[in-house]
Amino acid sequence: MQHIVTILGARPQFIKAGSVSRSILSRKEGGADIEEVIVHTGQHYDANMSDVFFEELQIPKPDYFLGIGGKTHGAMTGQMIEKIEEILVKEKPDWVMVYGDTNSTLAGAIAASKLHIKIAHVEAGLRSFNMRMPEEVNRILTDRISSVLFCPTQAAVNNLNNEGVSQWQTGAKVMLSGDVMQDGAIFYRNLAQQPPGLAVKDDFALCTIHRAENTDDPQRLANIVMALNEIAQSKQVVLPLHPRTKKILQTGDYDTLNLTIIDPVGYLNMVWLIDHCSMVMTDSGGLQKEAYFFGKPCITMRDETEWVELVQAGANVLVGADKTKILAAYQAQKVFDSQKLDESLYGGGRASERIVSELLHG
Ligand code: UD1
Ligand code: UDP
Repeated sequence: MQHIVTILGARPQFIKAGSVSRSILSRKEGGADIEEVIVHTGQHYDANMSDVFFEELQIPKPDYFLGIGGKTHGAMTGQMIEKIEEILVKEKPDWVMVYGDTNSTLAGAIAASKLHIKIAHVEAGLRSFNMRMPEEVNRILTDRISSVLFCPTQAAVNNLNNEGVSQWQTGAKVMLSGDVMQDGAIFYRNLAQQPPGLAVKDDFALCTIHRAENTDDPQRLANIVMALNEIAQSKQVVLPLHPRTKKILQTGDYDTLNLTIIDPVGYLNMVWLIDHCSMVMTDSGGLQKEAYFFGKPCITMRDETEWVELVQAGANVLVGADKTKILAAYQAQKVFDSQKLDESLYGGGRASERIVSELLHG
């Protein structure tokens, strides 16, 4: 019997874990001796940042809900470690599975490591090489104490090798699993639905902004908003707004008049928007890849990206928070030639299968 406790808490983790849970359930139905218990930390808690994903993606409902969200990094991570530890002592799992690089990821990994429970890290090895990002700290520390490192890309494997993974005391096993987000994008594409009540023009741009380095720096945020508002004079810019960004925009003097701002949408609506837009402008990690899966060009409003292969493929351009660069990239953007899509780059939609097989058979 493989008893797995999955720790999640933030929007992208619900989407990623959805694909792996589906794979676990299908192996279980096929007779495999495997059990998953889901712990939701509560890091994201609004209905449109959390519940909607469990409802529409048919993810098993969490077995535990910790309700720890909307706090500082230290308070959030510390309280999560304490509560997760209690659950792990009770559940005595063979594995703790964590996703990505949020505070929920790190809390799950720390709690498990002190109890000597094996950690499976999905989306291991990614690096921005910017230690000021909270996510970079979370992912490096999580990788360092994980037993199996499921890498979405070859670049992630290379990063771990460069860090000397084979010398780590944990005896960590590195596996190129592919990216579970591609599994989800393929699975949900045919189920996509237009967001109700939203009128879109034919060639609208889809935009998201939530990254701390942009939202918490008034000058960077102002530059981005000014550039988007200017672009929106000639092209519709649809912006499903993360609550973090919404709160900050409300407290400042930002001109967002031309933008089509909507509340965060569920994944089926989001997939529809990605599939129907003409380009993506974002600082999200996940959305950069989804743009690629759907053959859309992407302008990334960050100074670096963990998904370096997209920049190398000419599908993604990094513009930071520089208004001139954002506008220039917008003017220069061409329809990305979807003939150039390299299916093998992210594992071709079978990452979850590979991950579950590894957990079952090692
Ligand atoms: C977190 C992750 C980030 C990920 C993002 C996905 C960390 C350090 N950051 O950032 O890597 O890209 O999730 O979206 O873990 N809020 C609400 N309602 C919610 C959720 C958040 O109002 O349902 C507001 C609260 O004011 C909260 C703020 O957003 O304090 C920030 O939320 P938090 O989870 O701390 O970080 P994110 O910016 O969402
Ligand atoms: N997403 C969504 N609704 C939205 C905005 C994003 O379903 O309103 C999805 C998006 O398609 C991607 C995931 O959320 O699958 C990315 O999450 P986010 O950008 O919050 O986090 P990141 O990937 O940057 O960590």
